[in-house]
Amino acid sequence: MNEQLASLKEHEITGAIVISPGQGGLPRLLITTPASTAEIYLHGAHVTTFQKNGEPPLLWMSAESLFAPGKAIRGGVPVCFPWFGPKAGAPAHGYARLTEWNLAATSAAPDGRVTVRLRLPENLEGVPYTGSVEFIVTVGDTLTMELQVNNHSTESVTFEEILHTYFTVGDIAAISVKGLHGVHYLDKVGGTTLKTDEDDAIRFTAETDRVYLDTTHTVEIADPQLRRLIRIEKSGSASTVVWNPWVAKSKAMADFGDEEYHQMVCVESGNVGAAQTTLAPGVANTLKVVLSSRLV
Ligand code: BG6
Repeated sequence: MNEQLASLKEHEITGAIVISPGQGGLPRLLITTPASTAEIYLHGAHVTTFQKNGEPPLLWMSAESLFAPGKAIRGGVPVCFPWFGPKAGAPAHGYARLTEWNLAATSAAPDGRVTVRLRLPENLEGVPYTGSVEFIVTVGDTLTMELQVNNHSTESVTFEEILHTYFTVGDIAAISVKGLHGVHYLDKVGGTTLKTDEDDAIRFTAETDRVYLDTTHTVEIADPQLRRLIRIEKSGSASTVVWNPWVAKSKAMADFGDEEYHQMVCVESGNVGAAQTTLAPGVANTLKVVLSSRLV
């Protein structure tokens, strides 16, 4: 066993957390609770699996995903930080999803819930940011994720952040995403246009790439095929991104199967664009997302 794995194993909890090399040999936590199972990679602090007992996986993973240092994992919950989307001369969606995070702590509560605390290494090469960033994942009957940013520097810091969550669905053409009626959004398909959602729910018939503005409320995914209702509750978040690549974009992505778009939808919670966060020196901030589901 190598040195890193040996020290990680000190964070194992009998019956609740096993730490071992996952795909590509990357360190991975396998979590078991009375209500669910989950997997978290240190690479990207990436939750790749969350599955409640008796339900299909809640999170979707691409069969084509890469698992390699410096490459993004396709599926699960990529942590996009400190920016969202493309940036000239820099990786899309920021460096957090490309970086191996440190495992700071693990714990199991008397009710069986398991919490994992990951910390982004500070002073990453070429990164001007000077704060401390933690991602805290609590696994139980629900999946709770908290991205905490503390500005320990003497200057204000500004960043974008989003938990780019991929959900498993039975058929993208049959689902509806509810809770965004009447909300303004930036439609990013074919240029960026400001629109207002006039529909009672989002239904998918083509590539969809929308940044919903000023949305702090809960969104639900109704999935008639899997007979499941997924609930996305959040705090500290003003942006909701809804994405499905559909046909052409699926084919264009090397780490995404041509037909995989049928079984996934991204509903992402965070603060992007005009809603980016600025923290004064000494100030901390938390983006929190709680995912729950039930069969209907
Ligand atoms: C979404 C963006 O959040 O992420 C899309 O709105 C983008 O524009 C998608 O295509 C996937 O990004 P990436 O970098 O993981 O391929």
